[in-house]
Amino acid sequence: MAITLRRHTLTRLFALTLLLAGSFLLFSSSETTQSSISEYQGYNVIERVTGLKNLNVQKYKSLQRRMGRDTRPDILDDVISDGVSNFWEQFQVPFIIAKETSHVDTQSVLSAVEELLSLNGWVAAYCPTLVRPFGQNKNIDDDTYDDLAKDDRIYYIALAIHSADHFLVDQLAVIVQLAKRLGTSNLFVSMLDYGSTDSTPTLTDLCEAVLTLLGVPFRIRRVPTMTEDPAAAYYPLEEAYMRNLALEPLLELHEKRQIAFSRVIWIKGFTCPNDILETLRVSIANEAAMVCGMDWAESGGQFIFSDRWRTRDIRGDQFRQSKSSSKPDAVPPRDKNGAARYTQHLPFQVFCCESGTHIVDPAQSYYKGLRYRYGLDFHNSSSSSNPLPHRSPDASCLDSSQAWFCRDLWVSKALEGVQDDEGSDPSFRYSKPKTETGANHRRQVPEALVDSDANAGSDFDAMPDSELSLDELPATRLTVPNSAYTPAHILVNPRCVTTYAGVSHTRLALDLFGTGDDDGSQANATENVLDDWEGAPEGFVCQEQRQTGGRVAAKTQRLLGFSVHDELASRAH
Ligand SMILES: *[C@@H]1O[C@H](CO)[C@@H](O)[C@H](O)[C@H]1NC(C)=O
Ligand SMILES: *[C@@H]1O[C@H](CO)[C@@H](O)[C@H](O)[C@H]1NC(C)=O
Repeated sequence: MAITLRRHTLTRLFALTLLLAGSFLLFSSSETTQSSISEYQGYNVIERVTGLKNLNVQKYKSLQRRMGRDTRPDILDDVISDGVSNFWEQFQVPFIIAKETSHVDTQSVLSAVEELLSLNGWVAAYCPTLVRPFGQNKNIDDDTYDDLAKDDRIYYIALAIHSADHFLVDQLAVIVQLAKRLGTSNLFVSMLDYGSTDSTPTLTDLCEAVLTLLGVPFRIRRVPTMTEDPAAAYYPLEEAYMRNLALEPLLELHEKRQIAFSRVIWIKGFTCPNDILETLRVSIANEAAMVCGMDWAESGGQFIFSDRWRTRDIRGDQFRQSKSSSKPDAVPPRDKNGAARYTQHLPFQVFCCESGTHIVDPAQSYYKGLRYRYGLDFHNSSSSSNPLPHRSPDASCLDSSQAWFCRDLWVSKALEGVQDDEGSDPSFRYSKPKTETGANHRRQVPEALVDSDANAGSDFDAMPDSELSLDELPATRLTVPNSAYTPAHILVNPRCVTTYAGVSHTRLALDLFGTGDDDGSQANATENVLDDWEGAPEGFVCQEQRQTGGRVAAKTQRLLGFSVHDELASRAH
């Protein structure tokens, strides 16, 4: 049940192509396809089948858009295009052009849509059989997720794809399952193909065909990579660029059409549809700015927590590189509360996360103007032969664009004011600083470490565990403690599992959640919601890429103070 490796992709593509042909039509990027799709749109058959809702693709054609299509020849081009013409000419055209036969069209579109909505994908098909606590998986077909599918809730699905074709068919299957639960016109799918060199361009053709037939609004866009030469590329910049591009339709729809999405779902790696739906519930119940899953990668026959570059517990510490089978005293989050809730499979608060598929509330972020960004003063080692310049110990952290985003979430939430139960004016809380400036508590612990990890999951981006301890940060002497400010609600939901190639889902689920013989009690709304939200930590483990070199550029780390008050003050200028 492990995700099939890349070399099988073409076989899988071919199988799926046959499936689609058998059920209804065979699409590709050829001219025939384009004309057949638009003819169907012209007859409004899809609209009659799926009904009207918020994002009406029939009324607003621009809701289904393809940009920067890759038109380079592909080895299956001939086969596909022959198949399409043949099928189209022989079986479809005779029916579709006459008004009197339009009920046949409706019927065949209806059955095609039915068939597509059950599109399970390869790994996705196994999801209902995987162990989850609290009976989360048992009633997969009983739970209609009506609470999430309310008409006034629409969801934005974002994917940034960089040569990851081995996930794409399964990710499409997950999207189709989400569409089935949430309503095809309650979703918008934004796929950004960032200069992929594998079969991603062909597979995005397939995604286009499926989404078009289902009436799901989308924008599929391909852009070239920013820098050809990896040695001259700065990875956090590329991350930020990709993500902001994937968000463009979100912002356009908001600004030009006043369409506000309820949540943005960033799909990464492979995540089961039910886990995503459940994480949506956790996000809404906690009014969370962000809820992340946890991602697990294969490493020497074991599964390890994989996103230690971007994830920080609520004390600012990095997660452990724990095995999925770790005992309670060695689980990924190091802080006491987080570890305790993790062990009970309940959502816990963190300073920052990404760890695979994650869900962001745009009202608390993108709609307030937050974008993905990165440290500007990195060293371009390919345009300069100078050694790495010296940076002051309290210089901003040159870490991932997600880490910047997390800090922005905290600061932006703090702008809403101080915590209700902590008095109304932060100036009352000023304690005389014991040192001259807030910067003095910052301390650098340089540690040159080279990334020796295998290319497994997002741990590709992580550093080896180190002895760096947050206790080495001197006691807080912030002018205003971070706890004075309204805290950002950033959570990790350990029941939302994201995986990568080589992971046995069945074994991972058993490791994480046992045999599933729990008492059957549901994690009720009370348990999923955090009562006590902590303020931001006053320091964190900063893992940075100070120079160009692409994704594999060496990282170093240090401890860095974090003062919401100072951040607010510096932004006010
Ligand atoms: C680094 O310098 C090279 C050569 O001047 C340039 O092509 C490249 O875009 C620069 N990289 C970044 C991330 O600015
Ligand atoms: C929900 O869980 C809490 C904590 O375990 C428990 O006290 C409460 O009775 C449960 N509520 C329901 C409705 O099951």
